Amino acid sequence: MSNRRLGKSGLYVFPIGLGCRTLGYKSAKEEEAIAIVQRAVELGTNFVDTANIYRKGKSEEIVGKAINSMRNKVVLATKGSIVRTPEGLPTQDLRPESVRQAVKDSLKRLQTDYIDLYQIHYPDPLTPFKETAEVLKELVGTGTIKNVGVSNFSSHELEEWTNLIETPTVQLPYNFLQRELYTKLLPVCQKHDVSMMIYTPLLMGLMSGKLTGNETFAENDERSTIPPSLVKTSISIANQLKPLADKYNKTVAQVIVNFILNQPQVGCVLVGASSLSQVEENVGAAKWTMQAGDRKKIEKTVHGTEESLDKQYFTQQVAETRLNYAGNNVATIEMGLKLVVPHAVKKGDRIKISWNGEYLGCAEES
Ligand SMILES: NC(=O)c1ccc[n+]([C@@H]2O[C@H](COP(=O)([O-])OP(=O)(O)OC[C@H]3O[C@@H](n4cnc5c(N)ncnc54)[C@H](OP(=O)(O)O)[C@@H]3O)[C@@H](O)[C@H]2O)c1
Repeated sequence: MSNRRLGKSGLYVFPIGLGCRTLGYKSAKEEEAIAIVQRAVELGTNFVDTANIYRKGKSEEIVGKAINSMRNKVVLATKGSIVRTPEGLPTQDLRPESVRQAVKDSLKRLQTDYIDLYQIHYPDPLTPFKETAEVLKELVGTGTIKNVGVSNFSSHELEEWTNLIETPTVQLPYNFLQRELYTKLLPVCQKHDVSMMIYTPLLMGLMSGKLTGNETFAENDERSTIPPSLVKTSISIANQLKPLADKYNKTVAQVIVNFILNQPQVGCVLVGASSLSQVEENVGAAKWTMQAGDRKKIEKTVHGTEESLDKQYFTQQVAETRLNYAGNNVATIEMGLKLVVPHAVKKGDRIKISWNGEYLGCAEES
């Protein structure tokens, strides 16, 4: 499979990228994590995606060490916009001085003097897009960053943003229980030639086809945040795909990733890995073709599933509200992140937030 061009940029990437969010965390030793990155590149993946907040910078440091001797073989992508509050909570900050500092810090951890794709991790509702776009243009001008991408933008945010600066990519979650954002972003991406960089394709490994359903997840395991009924559904979907995987002599993970990377507008699917064998399996998801009839069968299986993460929400207390530059009401929620909410929402309210980070309404009093 040939490399794909991202938007109108000069970046050409293998359709499966290595996601480094859990790097050095699941693969406990640093040497193992470095070996995972190097093996991925050796197998033909040239896209490596990390972020300044992954493991408080450790992921970028590991990537830096791993690619140091093969920098020109890698399309290096990282993300910024999340900073820590004095209380240690993550929050968005896209003010120009913050962006300049974040890029400088990332370059140092990555041991490089340029980043191929610098992505805004989450939009910051307190900073006008124009201000952030200006500083990113300045950094492109100096050559420190080569291209600008975004992540976790809604369709209207992407529409507004692409009018300000050339943006070849948007990162978004997409898996068989989470497809709403993809559907909403698709027309904007097609209109502005923005490539989609898909994350969590295997729903944190729940759809890898390797779980039995008898697993219990520790409280600090992120999979424990997925409602048990959806864990069951994920495993059931994976099991239903097993005969199809057997037909091609592939694994369920390879079938799912192959299906997703052939969806319209997808530039690259980012898959995390906690071992060398997972990297090998995941990269192998690109190197074969599924028949159209089998793709339809998968669609049918997925559409037959009533449940979806898109219908789920979590609740958070509003820690603070303030008006932004455009007169919108911005709430800082107890976990630190900020989002635009209706003017009636005030400090102390409990609100419902979708898995895509959208305000859904006030939570009922218990
Ligand atoms: N922009 C954003 O906000 C954002 C958010 C999330 C992720 N991302 C990016 O997307 C990347 C991928 O997302 P992700 O790490 O959440 O999700 P994922 O690819 O759905 O899941 C990764 C996990 O699944 C398991 N796994 C992967 N391949 C497997 C295989 N072949 N067989 C069995 N298990 C397998 C591994 O965990 P176990 O071995 O422990 O089961 C691995 O750590 C991230 O690393 C990051 O670069 C971006």
